Amino acid sequence: MSNAGYLPVRELVAHHASLPDVDASRIIMTAGAAGALALALRTFADPGEEVLVLPPYFPEYVGYCRAARLKPVFAPLSNAGPYFDVGRFQEAISGRTRIVLLNTPVNPTGHVLSEQELSTLADTLDETNRRRRRPIVLVVDEVYHRVVFGPAAHLCPLLQHHPTVLARSFSKDFGLAGERLGYLVLDPLFDTRVVVPGIEHWQRALGFVNAPATAQRALLHLADWRVDLQPLRRAREEAYAAFSSAGLDVLMPDAGLYIFARTPTTDSGAFVAALASGGIFVVAGESFGAPGWFRACFARKLEVIRAAGVGVARLLDREAH
Ligand SMILES: Cc1ncc(COP(=O)(O)O)c(C=O)c1O
Repeated sequence: MSNAGYLPVRELVAHHASLPDVDASRIIMTAGAAGALALALRTFADPGEEVLVLPPYFPEYVGYCRAARLKPVFAPLSNAGPYFDVGRFQEAISGRTRIVLLNTPVNPTGHVLSEQELSTLADTLDETNRRRRRPIVLVVDEVYHRVVFGPAAHLCPLLQHHPTVLARSFSKDFGLAGERLGYLVLDPLFDTRVVVPGIEHWQRALGFVNAPATAQRALLHLADWRVDLQPLRRAREEAYAAFSSAGLDVLMPDAGLYIFARTPTTDSGAFVAALASGGIFVVAGESFGAPGWFRACFARKLEVIRAAGVGVARLLDREAH
């Protein structure tokens, strides 16, 4: 096998990805989406350069950038809510920006970027790239692209903007995070004779060498790639109801595994700590670059979700008296 993975597996992945002009030569099998991002960051930027991270963001991005000796720079949040300000994100672009790192659907909010948001983002990057010798590469973490609750629909940024690289995995839709299997999709604009050996170099240099072989081959034996989202949809609705009836301001996620809610006090750390002392473990918005919010995972049994709602209501009630 080449460092990029088994050819029949890459062919199958290209078939399922079904993106224009993307064949097996543009698919690189990786150690999860985390491995895919580690390769992309090192292939498309050099040490000391900047990665523009769009908030709210997966907290691990900071470590991924620093490990690659890249500087994470954060775009501003919108005043309207926990979304990056698509009209202002370019303010954070500098001459050293090499990559814009986007996550859609978004962990932690479950927001799916709209066509309007994507086209504004694409137009702004096109405009910036016209003035550059080396274009900024849009790296998109699409780890939740198959965990989307209709009628919402995920739009793949590779269809709207070039050059774009997608990082995907089987961790969330197939629940296989432990198998460490994911893949990169390379933009049809790239010369694969140049880019693929660069990525393969990083597979070896980082010590992954290739994505896990048995997990790759297992893909060839799946009858189909359909995912039953019904249990998750139920859990999402239960979590939304539990937290909003407890009195919280909650965003209904269109995708992913998380509920994002406003903390009722300005000190979100204290609120999260108070919940933890009652056995309810959530993550403060500060970790995602969105203070004043917190994230709760709803990939849990319904009775656990309901009990969390009761615990939150009790805490709010205690704080009110
Ligand atoms: C937004 C996001 N990106 C990447 C990852 C890492 O995914 P993987 O397990 O496929 O490496 C996660 C895992 O939680 C995630 O939420």
